[in-house]
Amino acid sequence: MKKIIKNGTIVTATDTFQGEILIEDGKITQIGANLSALGAEVIDAKGCLVFPGGIDPHTHLDMPFGGTVTKDDFESGTVAAAFGGTTTIIDFCLTNKGEPLKNAIQTWHNKSKDKAVIDYSFHLMISEINDRVLGELPQVIDEEGITSFKVFMAYKNVFQADDETLFKTLVTAKELGALVMVHAENGDVIDYLTKKALAEGKTDPIYHALTRPPELEGEATGRAARFTGLANSQLYVVHVSCADAAEKIAEARAKGYDVWGETCPQYLVLDQSYLEKPNFEGAKYVWSPPLREKWNQQALWNALKSGQLQTLGSDQCSFDFKGQKDLGLEDFTKIPNGGPIIEDRLTILFSEGVKKGRISLNQFVDITSTRIAKLFGLFPKKGTIAVGADADLVIFDPNIERVISAETHHMAVDYNAFEGMKVTGEPVSVLVRGEYVVRDKQFVGKPGSGHYLKRAKYSMNAPLTQNQTLSI
Ligand code: URP
Ligand code: ZN
Ligand code: ZN
Repeated sequence: MKKIIKNGTIVTATDTFQGEILIEDGKITQIGANLSALGAEVIDAKGCLVFPGGIDPHTHLDMPFGGTVTKDDFESGTVAAAFGGTTTIIDFCLTNKGEPLKNAIQTWHNKSKDKAVIDYSFHLMISEINDRVLGELPQVIDEEGITSFKVFMAYKNVFQADDETLFKTLVTAKELGALVMVHAENGDVIDYLTKKALAEGKTDPIYHALTRPPELEGEATGRAARFTGLANSQLYVVHVSCADAAEKIAEARAKGYDVWGETCPQYLVLDQSYLEKPNFEGAKYVWSPPLREKWNQQALWNALKSGQLQTLGSDQCSFDFKGQKDLGLEDFTKIPNGGPIIEDRLTILFSEGVKKGRISLNQFVDITSTRIAKLFGLFPKKGTIAVGADADLVIFDPNIERVISAETHHMAVDYNAFEGMKVTGEPVSVLVRGEYVVRDKQFVGKPGSGHYLKRAKYSMNAPLTQNQTLSI
């Protein structure tokens, strides 16, 4: 089915212009004025922005964690993502020590293939580096197209890898053409501080934040960055929450290290005081790294504006308040870490960032889509509006005012972290490969219609290599 989007303002990471987009067989085939094609459906985007579908580089759907499983699976999670203007996600595939990597990847395919309503890919968690893993990684890259590896520097005795594993992963990734992602917090010191707090009877949610101070995120970020320089490798630091860590990334980049940083909406607009909400409500705001003192928000906005942080992930990792977060009623270390953000990622950045003059519209597109596509081997098929690219498009009303609420969101959880927040801007229609998933704010997609995406190898400047060249 052909479609022509007319009357909208097209926004890419570099340009903003009035134009029309012709979509044929799921791809953008023309951009111009007065376009026509026999039998094409005309979509009127008057008063709206048209930008490339958001790419969420950081989700945990249907993931066992903290003694339970994240509430949103690949169906509810991707439906909510679509309502929020996201057309591709990259989810974290967990691995267990001793388990063949292909089994772990198959588990993630089984979770997603009949459920996803938008396109998706996986990062692979590295829990150990030994001959077996080294033997399997080339296949992971070549056959599965998984070109990013995740190492946790925290969650001692659960996911945490040691420095040797991190360093070997960086060396291996350099050889194979993969990007290493780190959760950067010093897990050993956090373990000491949490045990000490519990021994002193400090069990409330606020102690989650107080036992994971920003110094420990800054230290781990700096350590990972130095290892990256030493290995002449490439690093992407997930969920940067504080000035200390953002500064370490800026310092590494100033030295010429290939280090990138992601922040998340929650760190831009929420702060540590939320963990002190009465009646255990603070548990809704337990993330690792934790929400920080409010002054850190300005540092994160500055880093996004100046390009020292380059991307926005949701770190979607949702748990119900009743029945999941309350596992930690008597002990903050038992509160499952994470929150429901996938749906509001773009709107928060648009409303708080673009509308408030903190970042430009083109930066908004770069931060939520284009840069992510480049870093994770999806560009230019994804992440831009160009002839030959997939027609993953968001028709976005930039003026509509609304209030975020769990009453109206599409995630499966019983609360929204931004409850009551007034925002401006909302996706009206969302297309994936030229097909509507959301049409006039109604879900019209189909579970299982999302495609699994094999990604290209990491390339610092994401050039148009042969296997990435657009074709129509
Ligand atoms: O609290 C968080 N961030 N939960 C998700 C898992 C992780 O560390 O990214
Ligand atoms: Zn993490
Ligand atoms: Zn995460």
